[in-house]
Amino acid sequence: MQFFLDTANLDEMREVKELGLLDGVTTNPTLMSREGGDWREQAALICELVDGPVSLEVIGTTREEMIKEAKDLASFGDNVVVKIPMIAEGLKALKELHEREIKTNVTLVFSPGQALLAAKLGATYVSPFVGRLDALTHNGIEGVDQMRTMFDNYDYKTKILVASVRHPMHVLDSALIGADVITLPYSTITQLMKHPLTDNGLAAFLADWEAFQK
Ligand code: G3P
Repeated sequence: MQFFLDTANLDEMREVKELGLLDGVTTNPTLMSREGGDWREQAALICELVDGPVSLEVIGTTREEMIKEAKDLASFGDNVVVKIPMIAEGLKALKELHEREIKTNVTLVFSPGQALLAAKLGATYVSPFVGRLDALTHNGIEGVDQMRTMFDNYDYKTKILVASVRHPMHVLDSALIGADVITLPYSTITQLMKHPLTDNGLAAFLADWEAFQK
């Protein structure tokens, strides 16, 4: 499973890159706005720093606007993936972008049915938002499992990119299902890495060694 970082923050990307865990990055208008400054400069810096795919999201809501923006966003680098919202106009744009070989990530996906439509139209990625579904007492991960079955049934090449991740169990469940990619907030990477028994165990080993050397 590939690990993407769900952020527009360059320091977080550098940290995870140094760990060797940065397979790609996903941004959205909210994450970009948190960084402030000129979004074009920020997007260019992200595309340069990240070796893997970088999702940049369109703001337009009509087919024409999305296609125009997608062409502009794609010019930031060969690694750009254009995020398109899961609305009817987005689906119309998707078909044309697929034909133009611009990579796409269909975002704001909340049901397996939506994912099926995006896959049929040749989306490169679909992003089911598991955390936002869980918050409404719908099981987000169950939908991911159904998407995996559907995509495998028809050999769709669209990759399942699990998004809106809230905790490490989302990561484990996604890996057990066989999701292709998960996009994580920086905090979840830290949570995955840490275990109190590791810290306690290391402290005990070092203390025993120090006593042995005296
Ligand atoms: O980037 C898309 C998605 O991961 C957003 O997640 O935390 O805003 O629900 P969140």
